[in-house]
Amino acid sequence: MSFVFAPSATAADALWAETADAAEALVAGEPDGIANMANVAALIWQAIPDLNWAGFYRFDGTELVLGPFQGKAACIRIPLDKGVCGAAARLRATQRVEDVHAFPGHIACDAASRSELVVPVIANDRLVGVLDLDSPSPARFTADDQAGAEALVARIAAALAP
Ligand code: SME
Repeated sequence: MSFVFAPSATAADALWAETADAAEALVAGEPDGIANMANVAALIWQAIPDLNWAGFYRFDGTELVLGPFQGKAACIRIPLDKGVCGAAARLRATQRVEDVHAFPGHIACDAASRSELVVPVIANDRLVGVLDLDSPSPARFTADDQAGAEALVARIAAALAP
């Protein structure tokens, strides 16, 4: 299968909408949540500028475990009381962090990361994991990025579940 994805928008909201459309098309009919996470991480990495890491951590019932991603090798396990990812999972609320150095408990997987956006993935009221985006630029993620990432996750969350 080849899947052509050529995002053309420049505004963040339109870019996220194009990415969400592509993500929905790619996961349609595929029941494997890990395969779907892999493709969605690749789409985001291709479409969204100024990232140094994009991918998923999966909730194993106890803690977050590294899932499909693009970027440098990362920490494998994150307890829910640690890091930006743990906070998003524990609180089931998006964490948009303008300066990761100012976030208590931030886990520096890639020293280049300066800002971070983490969206919890919830399907049928169950925590599936988190979508984690890192940027080397401070305050990289806007409210539009947050809304766009949340909308993308909401549309495909069921396809990311195990
Ligand atoms: N910075 C994250 C850890 C994951 S890496 O960024 C890929 C955190 O504090 O949870």
